[in-house]
Amino acid sequence: MTSFAYTVHPARIVFGTGTLENVRDEVQRLGRTRVLVLASPGLAAAGDRVEKVLGPLAVARFDGAAMHTPVEVTEVALGVLREHEADCVVAIGGGSTTGLAKALAVRTGVDQVVLPSTYAGSEVTPVLGETENGTKTTRSSPDILPETVIYDVELSAGLPVALAVTSAVNALAHAVEALYSPDANPVVDGMALDAITRLAAGLRRLPADPHDPEVRADLLRGAWLAGTCLGAVGMGLHHKLCHTLGGGFDLPHAQTHTVVLPYAMAYNGAAAPEAMRRIAEALGVGDADDVAGALQDLVRAAGGPVSLGELGFPEAAVDRAAELATQAPYPNPAPVTRDGIAALLRAAWAGERPGGTGTVRPARITEQVVKTFAGAADPRLRRLISDLVVRLHAFAVDNDLTQDEWQQGIDFLTRTGQTCSDTRQEFVLLSDTLGLSSVVDVLTNSRTPDSTPSAVLGPFYVEGPPELEQGSDMARGLAGTPLHVDVLVTDTADVPVADAIVDVWQSNEDGFYDVQLPDLDGPVLRGRLRTDGEGRLRFWSILPSEYPIPTDGPVGAMLGAVGRHPYRAPHLHFMIAAPGRRRLITQLFVRGGLYLDSDAVFGVKDDLVVDFETRTGPTPDGRVIEGEWRRLGFTFRLAPDALEHRP
Ligand code: BEZ
Ligand code: FE
Repeated sequence: MTSFAYTVHPARIVFGTGTLENVRDEVQRLGRTRVLVLASPGLAAAGDRVEKVLGPLAVARFDGAAMHTPVEVTEVALGVLREHEADCVVAIGGGSTTGLAKALAVRTGVDQVVLPSTYAGSEVTPVLGETENGTKTTRSSPDILPETVIYDVELSAGLPVALAVTSAVNALAHAVEALYSPDANPVVDGMALDAITRLAAGLRRLPADPHDPEVRADLLRGAWLAGTCLGAVGMGLHHKLCHTLGGGFDLPHAQTHTVVLPYAMAYNGAAAPEAMRRIAEALGVGDADDVAGALQDLVRAAGGPVSLGELGFPEAAVDRAAELATQAPYPNPAPVTRDGIAALLRAAWAGERPGGTGTVRPARITEQVVKTFAGAADPRLRRLISDLVVRLHAFAVDNDLTQDEWQQGIDFLTRTGQTCSDTRQEFVLLSDTLGLSSVVDVLTNSRTPDSTPSAVLGPFYVEGPPELEQGSDMARGLAGTPLHVDVLVTDTADVPVADAIVDVWQSNEDGFYDVQLPDLDGPVLRGRLRTDGEGRLRFWSILPSEYPIPTDGPVGAMLGAVGRHPYRAPHLHFMIAAPGRRRLITQLFVRGGLYLDSDAVFGVKDDLVVDFETRTGPTPDGRVIEGEWRRLGFTFRLAPDALEHRP
């Protein structure tokens, strides 16, 4: 059991597209009637819209918020607020405008409704940082927390891509540091991981789809969650460093966060392995050891800055910055040492890929291998082989595959190949028993949902089966419960298909196919028939029984090793071909038969489980049978023979 403490900061969150239109309702919900509208300098038009929606509730306007919330600016705004007797502020903008709203609220008790235009996250924290005569002070109080936050995806979509990238990484840093915070708790962890997933998804797509509302929605929702983490738990090295660099060296806030985050993560990696594993998972990075480098790759791909050098930080300032950043101790997973921070800053100045130890990393190899497929002329081949390699490598990495295990796998596949012959396909059997054949079959079938489901071919089909007359007995006198088959073949519009070629094959009552019984005289329990003018087909056979798939090879050994039985549920195979129709390979299963729920090749589909009705007495064609016989009726619906197309 995990014990934890978590403080909830009560605020109302309204999230959506076009939610700016709700601003009047939200102010009224708070019982306020006189609003001072604060808009960031670049958002005058949005400020006008808000005023319009507010109508008579808007009594004053102030667009002069400035970075770091200078007290002098707050005093001017305070004058406007008092002059118009405002009881509420509505702030539209980034961190500066939110900061001004908070500064006014903490001084006067007015309510705040905030519409964030960036991913700063401060709108959901009870913290206010102000500057007076160049000195920054920070305070925290429930009065500072905005009452209502309206997240409008449309409003945030106005943030240009370059700013959106740095602002989103700024938000990402809140979520990352929350996961290794000393106050970390399961509630905040959940929000942090969701934030990371959404922010990473948004960052990945932003450069190519900057106007896609889903991309902007992911970023904004991630930013909200990350801001909630920031308000709930203490931050570590990353925030301290950015604060030092911003304050002491006048570096731009969001860009500095963007550069520093991967290096702070690499610094803390060994001391917070579980947090890094979860961050890697949320980011979709296979190798947790490479999570910092992978994050920097993501930033670079999104066009964000990756070195302090490019932000104008001088290399000569590294030692001084390291000294400043290590002056006051603060909680952080890895010990914060001067040498350690100096090394971090030097690497960050140069923009070296973080986390590199000089050793080759699996992610690098994967990347290199996938690159070698770039020239493949066939795009489908390129995609399939690239994805296969990515997944195989991830399988090895995620399971920490040992050399011995790899060798066992190679030996198994070698034996599987060696077991194959002209009459035995052990690889297909492997695919069958691992369910892959059925997955491919289901995919194929889902492209033609109106037709009869297909099922795997299996190894017992023999090309060129004996031609049989309608009404004949394919069991040729073999022992078993007689079965009268009376089926119809139609198209998907229920129009009968005449002259369809129907191949049928099945096991005997002991569960063997003829090809498994060398003493038999020629083919039996298999044949080729044709539908009549009405699309019908009638013939006699015997009731098929359950049977084990071949177990004398490596696949049998695999089933034994995992404690699985080798049985197939009783079934009758059909292969139906007709001009202009898609060929149907399927099986009909005996309702009530054994192993329907645990078929060794996962081939049973509900629509293919049918009644093999028990009958006694007269038969349809006058054949005389003592005792019980069975009747199978079914309609096969063939799909049109359209070309396969993939999205
Ligand atoms: C069969 O039904 O004949 C079969 C299918 C897959 C594997 C083994 C047998
Ligand atoms: Fe079979």
